[in-house]
Amino acid sequence: MADIVERYDIPQQHFWLHGPRSGQPVEFDAATGMWNVYGYPELQEMLGDPATFSSDAMRVIPKNMMPDGEELSMKGFITQIDPPEHGKLRKLVSSAFTRKVVADLEPRIAALTHELLDAAAERGRFELVTDLAYPLPVIVIAELLGVPSSDRALFKQWADALFERDSKISLTEPSEDREAEVRAAMKPWMEMSGYLAAHAAERRTRPRADLLTKLVEAEVDGERLPDDQVVNFAIVLLLAGHITTTMLLGNTVLCLDAFPEQQDRVRADRSTVPAVIEESLRFFTPFSALARSTTREATLGGVTIPADQLVMAWLGPANRDPRQFPDPGVFNPDRDPNPHLAFGRGIHFCLGAPLARLEGRVALNILLDRLDPLRTNPDEPVEFLPTPTMTGVRRLQLLW
Ligand code: HEM
Repeated sequence: MADIVERYDIPQQHFWLHGPRSGQPVEFDAATGMWNVYGYPELQEMLGDPATFSSDAMRVIPKNMMPDGEELSMKGFITQIDPPEHGKLRKLVSSAFTRKVVADLEPRIAALTHELLDAAAERGRFELVTDLAYPLPVIVIAELLGVPSSDRALFKQWADALFERDSKISLTEPSEDREAEVRAAMKPWMEMSGYLAAHAAERRTRPRADLLTKLVEAEVDGERLPDDQVVNFAIVLLLAGHITTTMLLGNTVLCLDAFPEQQDRVRADRSTVPAVIEESLRFFTPFSALARSTTREATLGGVTIPADQLVMAWLGPANRDPRQFPDPGVFNPDRDPNPHLAFGRGIHFCLGAPLARLEGRVALNILLDRLDPLRTNPDEPVEFLPTPTMTGVRRLQLLW
């Protein structure tokens, strides 16, 4: 593990990549006022108990840390709601965002990957994130939703404003700074809401063959999604639909660069591409932490957590828990089964997992076809995202 950290200069924020953790699987951090859960069995228990570990983490953020007077509806942010509302919303959106909708995208994903690689070939330089890993999933999700993919500079601006923060979440920081920070974070939400609300309103009057129209028309048990919920779900898709998959593509290429013997193996037997993708998700878990709040006192791994606490579920460290994964620092696609937690667990299990896996499989196959070997350029340093909860590269120059 130390080799990889040194070779790619992985920042300290991604502490769990730096070696085996010392300490307990469940710990309180007095500096931030939050609890951290790092262990695999403890996380399985936590994510399987939404009645105790609520996804509405905002409910325990002190009110003085929220900006006054913001009119932002959180309804329909599927990742933040609990049963029974969550089940209803999940059923509605699943009826529009089906496996078939995703499977039908395969030829388009392949064509786009080739187009993007052709453009890089013309330039004679290939920076994986800018040239492929970012635009590919954004164009796919934009086309699927039915918003112009040419607006993607705007999506990137919003996504960067929301996610590329190197500050750590803390409940103990002075509230003045915190309020300004939260207010700044709200701005891109408001802009995204306005943008998607205009598109959703248009679909109500002029339906099209796109996912936004399907969401507007989706009906379960005679109920439809109200406008603000359509918009908020579209925001989740637009954000979740690209940032994470961008990280997955970059991380997978990095794994095959770091472990060339595994690159030779997957070249020799392409049926192992899906296993490489799964092991990449375990090894460099893109969304390395999720937030929950306790609705009542809970005991996890023998530790008692009081009610109304903010608890971080650390998927990345759990995916390297030696109690579950022998030799966790070794990239080994032969792990079978590979029950990693990169897509979460339980009722909030990632709805986009089939799309992310499809994009990963198609793009990796084409990269292997067109670049042999698939290698980082040793003269250009790999750059990681600075955000502690997001593990991925933001710059990775490949040998062309
Ligand atoms: C939920 C990870 C790609 C849409 C989640 C969760 C994780 C996750 C960990 C659980 C959140 C929680 O329990 O609080 C990932 C990773 C991806 C990926 C690692 C790529 C490698 C996508 C894509 C989409 C998507 C491509 C859609 C286009 C969603 C949605 C949820 C979700 C809608 C919420 C499900 C619910 O709350 O019921 N994802 N995701 N994700 N993801 Fe993904």
